[in-house]
Amino acid sequence: MLQRNNCINLRSLIFFSRYGSSFSKFFTSQAASSLQPVCEPATYSNRGDDEYADLNWDNLGYGLVPTDYMYIMKCSDKEKFSHGELNRFGNIEMSPASGVLNYAQGLFEGLKAYRKEDGRVLLFRPEQNAMRMMMGAERMCMLSPSVDQFVDAVKQTVLANKRWVPPPGKGSLYLRPLLMGSGAMLGLAPAPEYTFIIFASPVGTYFKEGLAPINLLVEDEFHRATLGGTGGVKAISNYAPVLKAQAQAKSKGFTDVLFVDSKTKNHLEEVASCNIFILKGKTISTPVTGVTVLPGITRKSIIDIARDYGYQVEERPIPVEELFEADEVFCTGTAVVVAPVGSITYQGKRVEYRTGDGSVSQKLYLTLTGIQMGLIEDKMGWTVEI
Ligand code: COI
Repeated sequence: MLQRNNCINLRSLIFFSRYGSSFSKFFTSQAASSLQPVCEPATYSNRGDDEYADLNWDNLGYGLVPTDYMYIMKCSDKEKFSHGELNRFGNIEMSPASGVLNYAQGLFEGLKAYRKEDGRVLLFRPEQNAMRMMMGAERMCMLSPSVDQFVDAVKQTVLANKRWVPPPGKGSLYLRPLLMGSGAMLGLAPAPEYTFIIFASPVGTYFKEGLAPINLLVEDEFHRATLGGTGGVKAISNYAPVLKAQAQAKSKGFTDVLFVDSKTKNHLEEVASCNIFILKGKTISTPVTGVTVLPGITRKSIIDIARDYGYQVEERPIPVEELFEADEVFCTGTAVVVAPVGSITYQGKRVEYRTGDGSVSQKLYLTLTGIQMGLIEDKMGWTVEI
């Protein structure tokens, strides 16, 4: 196991290799069930804390790396979630008539576990994911686990897969909670059974650019969300509709797509997988969440950190034209963390932004990840040690 003392100095920051260059510059219920794991049921045995899975930790991207265990909990629509268990990670079996497969009655979440220098593992605001899932479940007419059940399941999943939590500075263990209508039916209605699953995968940076600035294309033909729709919750059905616009943008060399609202087609909403912020002077602005824009947990945390640094943060409708006056633009999300935007192209016009050393986005990134990794004192009480 990596032994370090708790005092982080510049040299130890440099040592956190993946982010190092940046840091060095800053400091069952057993309801009749239509879903069954077809993999081996698990008797979970705790592995030694010192043991790491056999993986090249230096090259983590965002591809799925299957880990040892996943958590499964089910309930019928006449009960509440009450009892879940760890299973060996593997395929699941589901009725072709399940609500999720036919009518997309499903939600997902994403959160990360970081290994500290002393070997202990930190979660970042898991109760926020639990609450967001509960809100989403209400919108999608689903039963959901309680906050305590959710957080407990996350902890169990991390501990069971602890050898897959990357070494400090090499990445994190991404947890993917799923809630789905797993019961079989035919007519359009809430499913008669719900399944909650958490699986895990070690990850590094989300975009192929790594920590380098990304290049976005504003998309004003396809939309990811509409008024009265589900853009403000983490419905699985919000994500496939972005793929076509994303594929077109990627084929032209862009990293990703920035969507505008479907009504005026003139206000910023979200990038395919993350929230967006613009900076002008000492003011940071981001679109309002809840209706068409997802209330991101990283977004919320960055707002607090930025205010703490003395920036004025405004949550408001942002006309596309403001992209042409901004000093910086950056994206936030669990997967992307804080991604600097190097350029945005809108109707053939390209604008470039400040990134890198001395940029505000880098300062926010380093502060957020410092807290998440246990390198900076967590004055906000955001991290949860397992
Ligand atoms: C996350 O940031 O966890 C997300 O849900 C984005 C996902 C599309 C990778």
